[in-house]
Amino acid sequence: MDSRIWLWVMIICTQIVLIATVTDPNDVAVLSALKSSWKNLPRKWKGSDPCGRKWEGINCTNSRVTTLILAGIGVRTNGIGDIPSLSMLQYLDLSNNKGIRAILPPSIQNLKNLTTLILVGCSFRGPIPDSIGSLKQLVFLGLNNNSFIGSIPPSIGNLTNLSWLDLSQNQLTGSIPVSNATSPGLDNLLKAKHFHLANNRLSGPIPPKLFNSNMSLIHVIVNNNQLSGTIPSTIGTVKTLEVVRLDSNSLSGTVPQNLSDLKSVTELYLSNNKLSGPVPNLLGMSSLFYVDMSNNSFDKSDIPTWFTRLSLNTILMENTQLQGEIPSDVFHPQLESLVLSNNNLNGTLDIGNSYSTNLIVDLKNNSIANFVQNSGYNLSLNIDNNPICEGGSTGRYCTTRKPYVPITLPSNRCPPVKCGSSKVVSPNCKCKIPYTGTVLFYSHSFSNLDNTTYYTTLHNTLMSAFQSIQLPVDSISLSNATLDEYNYLQYRLHIFPSSQDYFNRSSVASIGTVINRQLFPLPFYGPLFFLDENYCCFPENKSSNSGIVIGSVVGGFVILLLIASAVTYGIYQKRQATKAKQNTPFATWGLDNGSEAGDVPQLKEARWCSFEELRRCTDNFSEDNMIGSGGYGKVYKGTLDTGHVVAIKRAQQGSLQGAQQFKNEIEKLSRVHHKNVVALVGFCYEKGEQMLVYEYISNGTLRDNLTGEARIKLDWMKRLKIALDSAKGVTYLHEHADPPILHRDIKSSNILLDDHLTAKVADFGLSKLLGDDSNISTQIQGTIGYMDPEYFETHRVTEKSDVYSFGVVLLELVTARSPIKNGKYIVIEVQDAIDKSGHPNGLYTVLDPALGSFQTLPGLTKFVDLAMSCVEKLGVDRPKMGEVVREIENIIDLAVLSTGGDSSLTFSSQNTGIVGDLYHPYGDSVSDASSLTVPFETELRR
Ligand SMILES: *[C@@H]1O[C@H](CO)[C@@H](O)[C@H](O)[C@H]1NC(C)=O
Repeated sequence: MDSRIWLWVMIICTQIVLIATVTDPNDVAVLSALKSSWKNLPRKWKGSDPCGRKWEGINCTNSRVTTLILAGIGVRTNGIGDIPSLSMLQYLDLSNNKGIRAILPPSIQNLKNLTTLILVGCSFRGPIPDSIGSLKQLVFLGLNNNSFIGSIPPSIGNLTNLSWLDLSQNQLTGSIPVSNATSPGLDNLLKAKHFHLANNRLSGPIPPKLFNSNMSLIHVIVNNNQLSGTIPSTIGTVKTLEVVRLDSNSLSGTVPQNLSDLKSVTELYLSNNKLSGPVPNLLGMSSLFYVDMSNNSFDKSDIPTWFTRLSLNTILMENTQLQGEIPSDVFHPQLESLVLSNNNLNGTLDIGNSYSTNLIVDLKNNSIANFVQNSGYNLSLNIDNNPICEGGSTGRYCTTRKPYVPITLPSNRCPPVKCGSSKVVSPNCKCKIPYTGTVLFYSHSFSNLDNTTYYTTLHNTLMSAFQSIQLPVDSISLSNATLDEYNYLQYRLHIFPSSQDYFNRSSVASIGTVINRQLFPLPFYGPLFFLDENYCCFPENKSSNSGIVIGSVVGGFVILLLIASAVTYGIYQKRQATKAKQNTPFATWGLDNGSEAGDVPQLKEARWCSFEELRRCTDNFSEDNMIGSGGYGKVYKGTLDTGHVVAIKRAQQGSLQGAQQFKNEIEKLSRVHHKNVVALVGFCYEKGEQMLVYEYISNGTLRDNLTGEARIKLDWMKRLKIALDSAKGVTYLHEHADPPILHRDIKSSNILLDDHLTAKVADFGLSKLLGDDSNISTQIQGTIGYMDPEYFETHRVTEKSDVYSFGVVLLELVTARSPIKNGKYIVIEVQDAIDKSGHPNGLYTVLDPALGSFQTLPGLTKFVDLAMSCVEKLGVDRPKMGEVVREIENIIDLAVLSTGGDSSLTFSSQNTGIVGDLYHPYGDSVSDASSLTVPFETELRR
């Protein structure tokens, strides 16, 4: 062949390869500059293609850097470099690098796609720039434990997607900003669940405007500031609140009575203020466990009735002018701690017989004259400086204290082992180099630190969080539970590596980000943060021979590379420009009354419904018709004028999306037509409302039917059929929908069963058009337990991420258990069961008992094999959905043969007529606490 042709072929091929892997040159430039100016960056940052060569801590989408996680790796620098130029960055975590002594420059505003900014425990200084208010996509902002100064920028109020705001432990001054005619404020953050502003020098009153009933706040944590004035009664309107910490400020006046309306509050801290008036009546706070009101100037009072009427475990009311006798029914079995020192309590102390072991009672400096002593009491009691312990009365309660012995969990059951330097014996008796640090909790709902229930819960939750994204963690241990001066509970945490003796940088960074991002529900504990100790022992990167060879080959193509990247960049720029033009908003359509005017969405079958019609058919959105709810709003059942029974999903204020987005969504949904996919019937966009109208599916979710919360018994053949139906639904989305759709949140509570037990896949709230990179800024979404570990690492969602989630659903069909239960992850449990017996039949240990004996389940082995292939660690090793369908069909054929049946008969619609009321369509099933439906950003969905 002509050599010139060869040359062209070569150039073209090379360009194809380069276009596929080359990183955007601008991003390369930014990272290269970091590499030369920051100390201790990963040694493996080599070459000129961070995306293609997978630099540690970096992930890309379409050749652009979208994730930068460098937590806990010991970076040192005096400036953040040109990070603000990584314009497609979505996730930035630099936490736990004490050596970052930088300011946060105003140019941070260029990170328009940023959803997550975590800078916990660095040495950032200077003010928080006002321009931070331009990061409209931000969901998580964690700037705690730095040295930021100046005031809280009011512009943070513009971050309407924000869920988590943590500015604690800085040196911030000024007042808490609220909105006024000219400026935004924190009261605008209707989606925020967390206000953590503790341990700063904030002053002025807590503005009444900070709170309103449209907010979603669960944690208000502003302790240890210099806030003054009264507690605004508006706080009583935020019914979602669970933790309120206003302690250690200079708050004065009477506590508003409606605080007691907060029925979800579990922990209330008002101590160390100047509060006056009557002791607050907390009778209405029916969820309260922990109350601390010490050191205030309340009016003289007897022991309030709520001491006994609520199920409190901790009552701290030192120095609050309490008087009279302590009723003996205060000492009920739930009580863990009663601290009433420095009051005027008198009479007889009678602690009865039913107090809990390890009870702590501190009554020093009171006027108690008598003690009814039961034999063999087991508590820690302090009644020093009471008449009963004066003048030679030396009952042993006057002197005895039970010493507090901190425990370690799991307890060390290893034979004596001597490990080399830096190594520590893991709970599994191996010598490893652990990653170590302290987990600190802003609040906790208990006070008996000896009770292992609390340790175990934390231990199992952390462990399953690591397992669910398959981090190489062998085991963890928790020790030294202590309370610090601010009453923050803290544990020392050792995390031991599994595959090697040490962690590499990516693992340390991922561990840090998983803990600090706190995506797991954690009973008994409030929000937390994690401060690490410098990890000593990252592996050093040996430069291998192959590296040199590749290096020289690559070197030979440097010129080609430059040309190619210039070309790619040019194309990219042009595409961006075109896209920007296309994105011109469909302005008229977005107008309130404009649904008939302007650029109406092009819909295939779904129709436009009037607000009036939907209002009528749901009886004015009455509670009786509500069949589900979630972060986006509520779902109602109704019957349209046409007679169709439908489920109406109504976005709540704050979850509304832009006109363009909404239009895209309904156009996309209306194109989906398949019998195994829930169909969109219509939509409403009127009067500031956005509603989607779906067909009503009567038999509820697969999850409810598996847990027995619904009434249908699912035998093995029915489960095979459900697996097949839902696999077909997902296959349709991937392979036949136009354009193809990734589901992104496949889980058993998103699979609905109709009258005939036909399974239908629901909730495309997270779906995204394949290859449509306009959705690039979509944050990490999905449900822990179902989430593809590869996706968590790369933030790049593929069809194979859906396959992973689907594999977890298949395992649920076999075991009927939640993906994460009691801290155990289904994938690992099933794998263990198989490994132990060396045969999938070992599964009987995890099999759903309702299925009967495994010998009677034809095809079970193949089914589990299929499920396990779907949850392979690497996407490339997983089958495609089409292959999954074919394999399930094979299994069904086999099963039918072996039962001597006829497949058409087996699946006849015998169940017509059963109508389940338990219906939690479209996920977000709030009732299912065990399923760990973690709102990654689900609150953001719409
Ligand atoms: C430990 O705490 C749990 C949860 O509050 C409680 O149910 C249990 O009774 C406690 N155990 C002891 C020994 O106090």
